[in-house]
Amino acid sequence: MSALDAAHVISQLSSKAVLLDPFCGTGTIIYEAQTHGMSAIGVDNNPLACIIARGKTEPIDTRYELDMLSSAIIDASLLDNVPSMPDNPAKYFHSDTADQIMRVLKVSTKFSSYLRAAFYGSICVAARACNGWLWTSTSIGRINESLRKVDFYSTLLRKAKKHIDFMNNGPPAKIHAYDTRRIHEIIEEESVDIVYTSPPYFDALDYTGYYSKIVLEILAMDRASVREGLIQNYSTYNEDMKQALLAIDRVIHDESLVIFVVGDRKVRGKLIKGSDFFAEIAPWNHPYIVEREYTNTASRLWDKINKTKRKEQIIVWNLAKGGRRSD
Ligand SMILES: C[S@@+](CC[C@H](N)C(=O)[O-])C[C@H]1O[C@@H](n2cnc3c(N)ncnc32)[C@H](O)[C@@H]1O
Repeated sequence: MSALDAAHVISQLSSKAVLLDPFCGTGTIIYEAQTHGMSAIGVDNNPLACIIARGKTEPIDTRYELDMLSSAIIDASLLDNVPSMPDNPAKYFHSDTADQIMRVLKVSTKFSSYLRAAFYGSICVAARACNGWLWTSTSIGRINESLRKVDFYSTLLRKAKKHIDFMNNGPPAKIHAYDTRRIHEIIEEESVDIVYTSPPYFDALDYTGYYSKIVLEILAMDRASVREGLIQNYSTYNEDMKQALLAIDRVIHDESLVIFVVGDRKVRGKLIKGSDFFAEIAPWNHPYIVEREYTNTASRLWDKINKTKRKEQIIVWNLAKGGRRSD
């Protein structure tokens, strides 16, 4: 999800509305909604994504955060008996960099969500840097034979400083680590005015893979169980997504607006258009659909790597006009 696209859509919506992103990922939409002054609720069943989404939106005292990080780094560098990094993620780092990461991990228990998000992001940046920046920001390549030594402490300080001015101290957003198929258990029925999301799309991406895998392993979070709670398996996708849509339907009302950003996907040689798929299974009538080819977006890079040329659709259900399906 491009932040510019999210900001553009959100600028056209009422700032008094309650907005829900039921698959909020790292919180791009939630951040833009908060900037616009909306009450924003994000839900994602990947705990790592939720920490980063909170990191982007939880109000902080910026001066305090940076001071806190500087002193935490000093504490980290003085620690004794630091456990070594687990074998798999250790492959991606110079051993000195890995040691610094494990030291910061020990002191990170007192970090705010902002510092945690900066920490996890810095792990990914350090993995790229240790491998000579040969990888892209979205894909991991071959491990570099002689890993470069990277000073993790300065990488982390730089990252924390770089993003801190973007923190907007808007109305606090609520981020729930929860399964959207059961969203009605945590969000009041008929309380949401706008749903805006990019849902998980078939098995296009493993949201616990790539850089997330490295971070999950360093944090000793059980990757398999995180993965199990996510909708990313093609064979059960239809049923899972129908269930999620029905749960979303319970928390919206008769005048709500639902906006999904979806894409095309090739499954066994057959192209499935995201908007056709969602128009078919959603419990709402008469969607309005706009389509565009990826141009100048991060997704274009993704397509280049995968040798695909996909299109993206924005699908909008205006319940005041279209209403709910009776069947
Ligand atoms: C396309 S991504 C959202 C990206 C987000 N808009 C962003 O810019 O970061 C879809 C998200 O759905 C989440 N997800 C998958 N299955 C889920 C489920 N059952 N409940 C809640 N979230 C789920 C994934 O963890 C992933 O973060």
